[in-house]
Formats: sequence, structure tokens, C-alpha cells
Amino acid sequence: MSENTTGRDIPLNKPSIDVDTEFIFRLTHPSEAEINVFSGDSFYRYPEEFNRLEDHMRRHIEGGNGDYFVLCVGASTGKEPLSVVLSWEEMVRTINPQYDGTVGVLAVERNLEAIAAFQQNNFPVFGSRDNQLERVMRYVSARTPLSEGIQSPAFIKPEAFVSFPEGIIKRITYLQIDAESPQVSELHKVFRADSFNAAICHTTSRYFSNEVTSMQRIRGTLGNGGFLSHVR
Ligand SMILES: C[S@@+](CC[C@H](N)C(=O)[O-])C[C@H]1O[C@@H](n2cnc3c(N)ncnc32)[C@H](O)[C@@H]1O
Repeated sequence: MSENTTGRDIPLNKPSIDVDTEFIFRLTHPSEAEINVFSGDSFYRYPEEFNRLEDHMRRHIEGGNGDYFVLCVGASTGKEPLSVVLSWEEMVRTINPQYDGTVGVLAVERNLEAIAAFQQNNFPVFGSRDNQLERVMRYVSARTPLSEGIQSPAFIKPEAFVSFPEGIIKRITYLQIDAESPQVSELHKVFRADSFNAAICHTTSRYFSNEVTSMQRIRGTLGNGGFLSHVR
């Protein structure tokens, strides 16, 4: 039999068409900011955890313990720290509207693009994924419907964009910092406080290279009776 000419002699590891592997890589590995802005970040993402946080806030307010400081680790584009501030507002409003104390949230994030998205104060709202939207909407200062002109990925279109008044935004301080760095132990000093009342670390520690040590450090920023909400 003569040598076959059916193509079986073409080395298998050599693609027969020219494939743009970099393009495929980008499609299958969207940047962290793209994930955060378009699919990862949502209001009240873990409602049970926010219920626990609100119980802790309630006890703090009822005890007349002054300001309440929260460390928010891996805060992404800001819907999480915003949810914390709205929870505080709701607790004060329902327990004691004259309460003498406020909330301060230190949002820690390593991704500058996510921080920049927060600073634009123009948050996409996805009815199917964001929680407690009725509450959120009570606090927004502007709501822009998604017009045909706004570019967004076709597969995931927000219903609208919302902005918050300065009084809400100003309670949140964003720092670009690696949450695994030893500086974390000093972060309460941003608020001239001795410690944080609560720390939130949701779906962030899974990215840590030394999860146990880093989570111990984060827990160590809490004062006596402090509340840690950790979702792996
Ligand atoms: C999956 S998102 C979670 C966002 C938000 N916590 C939530 O649950 O909706 C993880 C976030 O953690 C941030 N992140 C991961 N490792 C970090 C680190 N070592 N220091 C600071 N931020 C980090 C990422 O940039 C990303 O914004």
C-alpha cells in the first residue's frame, strides 16, 4: 500500500488553522475588573450575613456605643460597602433616629479599576442578582434608565444605573492595598479608632496565597465582641 494522503501524517500538535490564542485567552479569562463590574458585585449579595451584621449593629446602637467602624475586604466596585452603610441607616432609623454616632467603612481592594468604578458613583442594577432593591432605591439620588445608547455586553444588561448622595458615599473610604499585607493590622488607625466593630470578607479569601494567616490578621483587627462575616 502506498503512503496515505488523508492527513493522518499531519502532526497533531500543529493547528491546521491560524488561531488567535491571545483573543481566546481574553475571552475565557476576563480581567478581574470585568468580572467585578459585570457579573460579580451585587447589593446584599449574602442576605443571611447582612442579617447577622444588622443584629450586631442593633446591639451596638441599643447599647449607645457611638460610631461603628467596618473593614470591608475585597470590596470590589462598592456595592458591598454601600450595603453596609444602608444597613446602618436602616438600623438607626428604626431603633433610634436621634442616635449619636455614625458608620465608617474602610473598603480594601487591590484592583484599581474596581475602585475607579466605585468613584464614578454610577452603579449598574441587575434586578435578578441584586438583593433588597426596594431598600437600595430608597437611598439613591439619581436613577438613569438603560438607554439604547449605553454600551454594555449583550449577555448581561443592567436595568438601570443608580447614584448615591454624598452623605452615603462619604462614609466609605477606599484603599488600594493587598489584604494579605501586614499593614492590615494598622488599618483601624484610618478612623483614629482602636479597632473595627465588624469585618466583612466575602468570596475574597479564596484568592489569598496564605489564607489562614491573612484571615487571622483580619480577625485581629476586631475589638472585643467584634463581628466577622467570612464567606469563603
Ligand atoms: C469575587 S470578588 C468579591 C467581591 C465582594 N466581596 C462580594 O462578595 O461581592 C473578590 C474581590 O477581592 C479582591 N481581592 C482578591 N484578593 C485580594 C487581595 N489580596 N487584596 C485585596 N483585594 C483582593 C478582588 O480584586 C475582587 O474585587
